[in-house]
Amino acid sequence: MSRKKLIAGNWKMNGLIADSATLAKEISLNVKNLKPNTEVLVCPPFTLLTTVKKALRGSKVMLGAQDCHIEEKGAHTGDISPYMLKDAGCEYVILGHSERRTDHKETNALVKAKAQAAIKAGLKVIICVGETLTEREAGKAFEVTEKQIKGSLPNESTAANTVIAYEPVWAIGTGKTATPADAEAVHAHIRKVLVQKCGKAIASRMRILYGGSMKPANAAELLAQENIDGGLIGGASLKSADFTAIIETAK
Ligand code: 13P
Repeated sequence: MSRKKLIAGNWKMNGLIADSATLAKEISLNVKNLKPNTEVLVCPPFTLLTTVKKALRGSKVMLGAQDCHIEEKGAHTGDISPYMLKDAGCEYVILGHSERRTDHKETNALVKAKAQAAIKAGLKVIICVGETLTEREAGKAFEVTEKQIKGSLPNESTAANTVIAYEPVWAIGTGKTATPADAEAVHAHIRKVLVQKCGKAIASRMRILYGGSMKPANAAELLAQENIDGGLIGGASLKSADFTAIIETAK
């Protein structure tokens, strides 16, 4: 089953208007001759969505956000609705990132409700799962990710509107990367869980990205694994040369 690779940059809480416009412009110029089998996405903070959208004009690079609320509008101070993201030009939204699960106590049930709302608003969702170091050392990586997938994916999920990101928490921002074999083992397990959850036809088409210290030096090997369909990249997505180099390794 051939799945288009998706290389996504999660800028997290980084960037001011001037430098984000430069970064987005550089990325869009660098990927002018994007391979037909690769898609590129950048997910800046809310305050930069409009600036980055403008900077990406005319390029194939897509825009996404890093979270959304479950409601369309209303009295939710400080929150952003999926309709607002759509209005700002977003195609994707990242949901259930481990930093949100930790910092904002987001549960699987909440992530699922957010995904439902985002899909209803016409967005595609990237649902993040991944085990902590303690869980990995206890041999629970499969069990934890399985529970997260089963609890966080809405029934509306299809291969067209949902992407999974496997991000082992111990590999995020630490410089430690899962070996390609270890990452592939979890990705293959996630695909099996997706078969149970969504059926074979959807599961075989749904993309599963790897995230956690992906960089030009390790991207090719990770992206060559059968069930690794792209990357969700933090630190290295903030440098256009590194992000571009990762995109170029995707086949
Ligand atoms: P790093 O690439 O900085 O490890 O971050 C990964 C990540 O959390 C992407 O969502």
